[in-house]
Amino acid sequence: MTIVVAIDGPAAAGKGTLARRVAQDLNLAYLDTGLLYRATGFSVLQEQGDPSDENLALAAAQNLQPTDLENDALRHDEAAQAASKVAVIQSVRDELLAFQRRFAAEPPAGKNGAVLDGRDIGTVVCPHADVKLFVTASTEVRAQRRLKELQDRGLDAIYAQVLKDMKDRDARDSQRAAAPLKAADDAVILDTSDLDIEEVIAQAKSIISERT
Ligand code: DC
Repeated sequence: MTIVVAIDGPAAAGKGTLARRVAQDLNLAYLDTGLLYRATGFSVLQEQGDPSDENLALAAAQNLQPTDLENDALRHDEAAQAASKVAVIQSVRDELLAFQRRFAAEPPAGKNGAVLDGRDIGTVVCPHADVKLFVTASTEVRAQRRLKELQDRGLDAIYAQVLKDMKDRDARDSQRAAAPLKAADDAVILDTSDLDIEEVIAQAKSIISERT
């Protein structure tokens, strides 16, 4: 018996850190599904294309190679914005769906299951996940966290711009017709605004052990 843990939420809510720790502590395989969208969007940008162009975005999704996911440039906000644009396109989402479902259903030998993080894992990719967590925090807290992350990486960033980018991306991710960002009805909501990461991890692990 393997378990599937779905972790969704907006940008910079702490999903990635949480998912990685849960994967490590519970011996689960981890897939950061945002990377699939980032790599698709970034590939269109590299060809000087517009990530909102369906033909270009779909071709990029179809041609995605596992090594594309290892590119460091995917962490930049330029890739995040492009990801959020290709992610609006239903055919792109359909193209990336099979890979995500297979990852959840067939984790590598020796693993106890899989944890996936993204925007639509609990609602679309793994509607039958054993545990669904929706990790969120106020927009201002998330913008502060992202600002610190950028500054820690030595990048120039100002709060007002980071906040604006965050709001733009939240709006695009939540208001799109195709698999919008929202908590599944059976998800447990974790608001991390006033919690540090260790508290978030402890809460998540206790929810997972209750439900598996
Ligand atoms: O989690 P992230 O910041 O790396 O995601 C980048 C963008 O990809 C995000 O703004 C929306 C899109 N995305 C999505 O639509 N569905 C997912 N499951 C994961 C990411």
